[in-house]
Amino acid sequence: MNPKPKKVPVTLVTVTFFTFFILAGCQEKEPVIKIGVSAPFTGDQASVGLTILNGAQLAVAQANEHGEVIPGYKLKLTPIDDQHNPTQAVTAAKKFVSDPAVLGVVGHLNSSCTKPASQVYFDGRLAQITPASTNPGISKQGFDTFFRICATDDLQGPKAAGFAFNELGARSVFIIDDKTTYGKGLADEFQKVFESMGGKVLGRQGITQGDKDFTPLLTRVRPLAPELIFYGGLFPEASLLIKQSRDLNISASFLGGDGIYDVTLIQLATPAASEGVYATMIGTDIQSLPQARRFVEAYEKKFGPVGSYSAYSFDAANILIEAIRSAGAFDRERVISRLKSGRTFSGILGPTEFDQDGDTKNKIISVFRVKNGKWEHVRTI
Ligand code: ALA
Repeated sequence: MNPKPKKVPVTLVTVTFFTFFILAGCQEKEPVIKIGVSAPFTGDQASVGLTILNGAQLAVAQANEHGEVIPGYKLKLTPIDDQHNPTQAVTAAKKFVSDPAVLGVVGHLNSSCTKPASQVYFDGRLAQITPASTNPGISKQGFDTFFRICATDDLQGPKAAGFAFNELGARSVFIIDDKTTYGKGLADEFQKVFESMGGKVLGRQGITQGDKDFTPLLTRVRPLAPELIFYGGLFPEASLLIKQSRDLNISASFLGGDGIYDVTLIQLATPAASEGVYATMIGTDIQSLPQARRFVEAYEKKFGPVGSYSAYSFDAANILIEAIRSAGAFDRERVISRLKSGRTFSGILGPTEFDQDGDTKNKIISVFRVKNGKWEHVRTI
């Protein structure tokens, strides 16, 4: 038996029809150039993903305030949530590629998303600038559509190892990673250099993103008494590892990469447990840069505290906007060639010049430490 059709109120039909009509009319009246942005906007990494979105949003809003990037077009930011899931990231990339109004993409956060998506952008001839994905292999695929404005893990891992060995004085480590492109890659780079310096790796264990109970693993780590735990991965799992290791009275220092450098780590792990935790970061302390002052003010006014990669997505979006402006036409290929031209873009991170692989030549690694419940810049290493 067919279910009785539900009555749809006439007013709803009317409103829906007119909403569609008005929106379609707007689109025609106001042609747009779109910049895509993709990162995790929902789920356990959303606190960082949304600050990437905000950075790009601010750049687009400011560009629209200053006038048209290409005469007759308004600039529009188009966000798609990748949920830090590689399959979703590929779906997002396909959506951007199939929309002819999209001339460039800021994305993604996770290297495990950026890498498979980069193939889609390359095939679709669409420029992509990642503000945060640090796996060095991504730029070695020969994709002329790929650009990155942060340092990579073949620098971050070795610098972290040098810091651990020379400055923390650690001679033994237990390494944990989340088995992702980023987490495993960073841990490999750290391990290689830490061992070459004479440090001892007492053990290594992979975990899975989304895991919540690390007590069995940490119970095995405790009798080994490592001086340091190094973690390759992101803040949701890092915060649990920190809290649960402190609950087990493990006193080892804790060091991770840019993926753990976020205020949410302190909130999730608790300020007490995270006190003294170290993180390397793929750039300098944004708050201390004179050229970033206006950005920080404008961002805070609109969105609240600046996120770890907000300045990176702001610069990435501005570089795309500048490339679109100088391309002077609605043409993806010309945008790519502007980015490839070897020119220097000046932003709040300083000068960005891309090398032949699309990596920035401006590579800086800093160390931060949690002090009194806040991330404090230790120094550039
Ligand atoms: N740097 C981290 C990654 O590449 C966020 O996944």
